[in-house]
Amino acid sequence: MVIAGGMSYERDISMRSGQRIASALQRRGVSCELHDLDKSLLHSIRTNPPQVLFPALHGAAGEDGSLRKILELLDVPFVGATASGSRRAWNKDSAKDLLRQANLPTPDWMVLSQTAFSDYGAADLLDSIVERFGLPLAVKPTAGGSGLGVHVVENESDFPGAMMGCFAYGDKALLEKYVAGRDIAVAVVDLGEGPEALPAVEIAPLSGVYDFVARYNAGATRWHVPARLDKALSQQVAELAIAAHDVLGLRDLSRVDMMVSDDGQVRILEVNVAPGMTDTSLWPMGVEAAQRDFADVLVALIEQAKR
Ligand code: DAL
Ligand code: MG
Repeated sequence: MVIAGGMSYERDISMRSGQRIASALQRRGVSCELHDLDKSLLHSIRTNPPQVLFPALHGAAGEDGSLRKILELLDVPFVGATASGSRRAWNKDSAKDLLRQANLPTPDWMVLSQTAFSDYGAADLLDSIVERFGLPLAVKPTAGGSGLGVHVVENESDFPGAMMGCFAYGDKALLEKYVAGRDIAVAVVDLGEGPEALPAVEIAPLSGVYDFVARYNAGATRWHVPARLDKALSQQVAELAIAAHDVLGLRDLSRVDMMVSDDGQVRILEVNVAPGMTDTSLWPMGVEAAQRDFADVLVALIEQAKR
């Protein structure tokens, strides 16, 4: 059973991911049902337990560990991070904390709640924030995906609007030192012999910003597959991706998003336990860049989850 949809802001993307996974599996002769995350789900699972479940859910419930906790309680094998791994990665604040504790590079950051923002007001906060991080500054929901609610504050006057836009998606904002450079994504897959980093993908949105539109509209972004990195940097991003996957205690698959600055410094932005699987998504591109077949990798993950 592939679960997709749900009520998150990324519902439509999840449907696209789920459909692609389900059709790849069906082409390999795997009998598989695509199920929405709705009130009939638990009933379906209990009356007709799937051999394995593949969560293709993005956003809360799919990635915050709550659905995975239920699957664990029901003893339904599923592909991907456990409930606790998922929770650790989903909250960017706790994920970055863990990365930093492990000495993995991630941009300096702070979290600001909507309450604190309204209590102090943008003007009072801005000076100390700019003093700490400088400009530009990245503002994003602490928990979110697909670039929704993400803003780059270039000028002080952008700040209030960026914060309000971010709070539309949750009551906590992550403020992060902006890293100028190249966006790099590394797909990680573990087929039982330890996590393996697939060739990095470099993202070059035509608009310059890898936002929701650039992510999911054909032609809005160019990719360099594999990324244009020299041997040393390719090796470094691969090692960092594996280390990040391990530090967060993830299982089966993930996608580690990084920035490589112009002077060759690599910084980890975040780790996704339910990477997009749409036609314009990066994890499947990494799989293809490794000369692997997308469906074969999915089948292998499913076989592994059964055990
Ligand atoms: N949140 C989207 C689906 C991604 O990480 O690819
Ligand atoms: Mg993400």
